[in-house]
Amino acid sequence: MAEVRRKAIVTGAASGIGAATMVELARRGFDVACLDINAAGGQATVQAATAHGGRHAAFAVDVADEPELTRVFAAAVAHLGGLDALATAAGVGDMVPFMELDAATFRRVYDVNVVGTFLCLREAARVMPRGSRICTVASVAGLRGGGLSGTAAYAASKGGVLALTKNAARALAERGISVNTIAPGATMTPMIAEPWKNPAHRARVEAMAVQNRTGEPHEIAQAIAFLLSADASFITGSTLVADGGLVMY
Ligand SMILES: NC(=O)c1ccc[n+]([C@@H]2O[C@H](COP(=O)([O-])OP(=O)(O)OC[C@H]3O[C@@H](n4cnc5c(N)ncnc54)[C@H](O)[C@@H]3O)[C@@H](O)[C@H]2O)c1
Repeated sequence: MAEVRRKAIVTGAASGIGAATMVELARRGFDVACLDINAAGGQATVQAATAHGGRHAAFAVDVADEPELTRVFAAAVAHLGGLDALATAAGVGDMVPFMELDAATFRRVYDVNVVGTFLCLREAARVMPRGSRICTVASVAGLRGGGLSGTAAYAASKGGVLALTKNAARALAERGISVNTIAPGATMTPMIAEPWKNPAHRARVEAMAVQNRTGEPHEIAQAIAFLLSADASFITGSTLVADGGLVMY
């Protein structure tokens, strides 16, 4: 009898943590669809995932655009033939200093990081069978109010993801869907390429963690894959901090 592969959507899988998560889920036997605003990056990750077997695809979409997201999410589910897992890694950073931050920037960061995450959770919940699992991506910035590289809009948006995740865990429990979040510390992706060009800044942030280093995307991907696995069956509404010992609370 042919093996039944599980089905996952990973947003933000054109790059960084999302890309590593898509490849890790492919390695663990999922067929995966990437939803990302960057179409070319999505195709590159599909190629990397295909090296581990399975059927993978990339769909271009802005997760904050409700009509588009709704349409593309449904197309991805139809392509996969179902949905058992969702990881929401699409996100944007923000480094505008507090006194220079304007409402338009604040709203765009919130739209992508919080509203975009919510829309994906809602669309996933419409189609997921009982036993399905979701992992959102927050940040230690949401737990401690920033203080690394991102600023007010970013920290506030990630605090929003933490609360949204707990609310979704409550709301979707009756559907048998578990929802958790990962809170990464500084992780080597294009998002931190700019701040990491300043060696003093990088050294300051790395020294905040007892491991005194920057994490690698696959280290976050493995934690996300755990939260999406049956091994995490009694875990919902939780925040898994993967930060080399920075927050420790
Ligand atoms: N890198 C870090 O240090 C770090 C730390 C904590 C949390 N995070 C979070 O991890 C997640 C992944 O970030 P990353 O570090 O891999 O960065 P990244 O820039 O490498 O990846 C982000 C991905 O999201 C996609 N994206 C951005 N806006 C989008 C939109 N509107 N619609 C669809 N896709 C969109 C980008 O195209 C990109 O592929 C983000 O939510 C980020 O806030 C990153």
